[in-house]
Amino acid sequence: MPSYDEEVSGFSWDAARALLDWFPDGKLNIAYEAIDRHLQKGDGDRIALRWLSKNGSRKDFTYRDLSLQSNRFANLLRSLGIEKGDRVYSLLGRVPELYIAALGSLKAGCVFCPMFSAFGPEPIRSRMEIGGANVLITTKRLYKRKVSALRKDLPELKEILIIDDDGSDEGLRDFAALMAAETEDFKTEAMAPEETALLHFTSGTTGKPKGAMHVHEAVVAHHITGRLALDLRSDDIYWCTADPGWITGTSYGIIAPFTNGVTMVIDEAEFDANRWYQILAEEKITVWYTAPTAIRMLMKAGSELAKSHDLSHLRFMASVGEPLNPEAVIWSADTFGIPFHDNWWQTETGGIMIANYASMGVKPGSMGKPLPGISAAIVEKSDNGVREITKPLAIGELALKTGWPSMMRGYLHEEERYQKCFANGWYLSGDLAMRDSDGYFWFVGRNDDVIKSAGHLIGPFEVESALMEHEAAAEVAVIGIADETAGEIVKAFVALKLGHKPTEDLRLDLVGHARKRLGPAVAPKDIAFRENLPKTRSGKIMRRLLKARELGLPEGDISTLESDEQ
Ligand code: WT7
Repeated sequence: MPSYDEEVSGFSWDAARALLDWFPDGKLNIAYEAIDRHLQKGDGDRIALRWLSKNGSRKDFTYRDLSLQSNRFANLLRSLGIEKGDRVYSLLGRVPELYIAALGSLKAGCVFCPMFSAFGPEPIRSRMEIGGANVLITTKRLYKRKVSALRKDLPELKEILIIDDDGSDEGLRDFAALMAAETEDFKTEAMAPEETALLHFTSGTTGKPKGAMHVHEAVVAHHITGRLALDLRSDDIYWCTADPGWITGTSYGIIAPFTNGVTMVIDEAEFDANRWYQILAEEKITVWYTAPTAIRMLMKAGSELAKSHDLSHLRFMASVGEPLNPEAVIWSADTFGIPFHDNWWQTETGGIMIANYASMGVKPGSMGKPLPGISAAIVEKSDNGVREITKPLAIGELALKTGWPSMMRGYLHEEERYQKCFANGWYLSGDLAMRDSDGYFWFVGRNDDVIKSAGHLIGPFEVESALMEHEAAAEVAVIGIADETAGEIVKAFVALKLGHKPTEDLRLDLVGHARKRLGPAVAPKDIAFRENLPKTRSGKIMRRLLKARELGLPEGDISTLESDEQ
């Protein structure tokens, strides 16, 4: 973008819509915009996806390969009787089948829901139950360990496709054999802009995970924000390190890069500083989108390691998901010659809302300025809803004027929770922030008890519920504790039932139980015993007070506190 101010004043969503190809009668399909339209333009032989496997092999897929493979997958769904509007879930690591299934499901007009493969059975069960999963694509190992015992609870789950086995057991399907039997021609469903395409789960302070519904027209925002905030161009070699099990790995790890025609690198392996620098150097990555936890781990590994690799192809680096410390911005500018550009958004917003742009000076520690087409403000509660606070550096809730294409259209089956997100034409983000006199936004904290650990949003209630299943637990409260690398780590406080002693063995048993139920990404890293937990008179556990006590901070308003035996 040549100049932020010019782009903002000249921007319209209709002009952004016109950047895509569309079908007749105002219909479209995300997968067509991402993949097939490049074939129409003669770019079918360009590499779309370069997959780096855990064990060092690599495999390229051109835009044509992805087009034909996703057609096969769409045909496969039809052959199994799966129709438009049915829900296709994945539980996979970062393997090509995940990308093919996502694109093929969208072509077939199904709703695609990618789940994080490090989830344990409990988060998987709740997500498949709420969304009414009809098809699951996974591996034999993940199926055995996490899904097989849940099948009786999931009557709508008709088909399970296994990517690495013949599926002869338990009525599973052999993905490879079924794919081989299908043809490569499929007529992509022409979808109305408001038809649902993707379901992404996110967590709140209370209750079950929330299924944020996103529509086909969201692709308009993915495409333009990929260009404006990530500076994507078709000759880029781009690496988004996020897993598609979290929305960053879908919006900017599938859709935006492909609509913009880049070559996207995918790494199956987990973080390793040396491996990451090798990928950046050997693959000649030009645009890199990653997260603060990873950046902090790279900082720990030292600048020397970075400087021992040829990273001269990198021209733009962006970060998202949690606060990016100013030191990390300064370190990156020193180490790479260019700084990380922080940006802000949420599962609910579907795409980037606030960003530091390539064409604009970075203020280290700031999230940047709103995307063209987005109005952001700081608001506070007022008599009839909320009102904007315009005073520079005043702290309030970060809000966005409704009406951009990638905004969620609802939380599945939870209209009331959805409606609570809005007041006076604003979408209320639940984050506290401030805006400075130059119009840059600064993150202050969450307005709720949700935890951000290694960039993953974790609902304390989901963790508490899993621990409450343990026979020794009488009361549980879960909070985030600041951590130098992961931002926050999950810590649980447990009050025991009569007859149970707070021993180290019991603590380990609780930790083990939580890991088994929730998986390592969500389970608490630490558990402490307490005789009582602070509660309101109505019996609600005051996580905030627990946290203040844990950190030795002021206790704030405790007028509703009931028991206080700490
Ligand atoms: C929450 C949303 C980022 C999209 C995918 C994750 C926090 C996000 C930043 C940032 C400080 C950030 C907020 C937000 N967050 N970006 N640049 N600086 N905090 O979406 O899992 O729905 O999480 O992540 O608290 O509300 P998500």
